[in-house]
Amino acid sequence: MKEFDRQALIQQAFEAREKAYTPYSHFRVGAALLAKSGKVYTGCNIENAGYTPTNCAERTALFKAVSEGERKFDAIAIVGSMEGKVNQLVTGPCGVCRQALYEFGGDDLIVIMAKSADDYIERTLGELLPFGFGPANLSE
Ligand code: THU
Repeated sequence: MKEFDRQALIQQAFEAREKAYTPYSHFRVGAALLAKSGKVYTGCNIENAGYTPTNCAERTALFKAVSEGERKFDAIAIVGSMEGKVNQLVTGPCGVCRQALYEFGGDDLIVIMAKSADDYIERTLGELLPFGFGPANLSE
């Protein structure tokens, strides 16, 4: 994996969060996903009056990237907080997003959960989703 600028990726996640559509929860999330191609795909959460169609920021970024032909990723930065508040907790990806990311990122995907550009927790997806179920399981 190539080295990359974590602060720049976090900054892109903050910019993506500006577009969050959150009239129901008022919890605003941004994500920036670094593909192995070097391109970054951003996403925000998009809520829905029907609630269940709501899409998380991480999956918005992932689906944008995969729909553009990307299949392999190095890292994702995630930022979230209630509207108008400074985040006290980092925002970790929800279980559904962990699974969605696992399909393309596998155990080695770096997940950066940030409060600010220089205050973040970094883990691999393998740490966040141990024994993840992925494509390898279906090709045994
Ligand atoms: N949300 C995300 O976008 N990503 C996460 O990792 C956690 C939750 C969104 C979904 C919903 O719009 C709001 O945050 C509250 O759950």
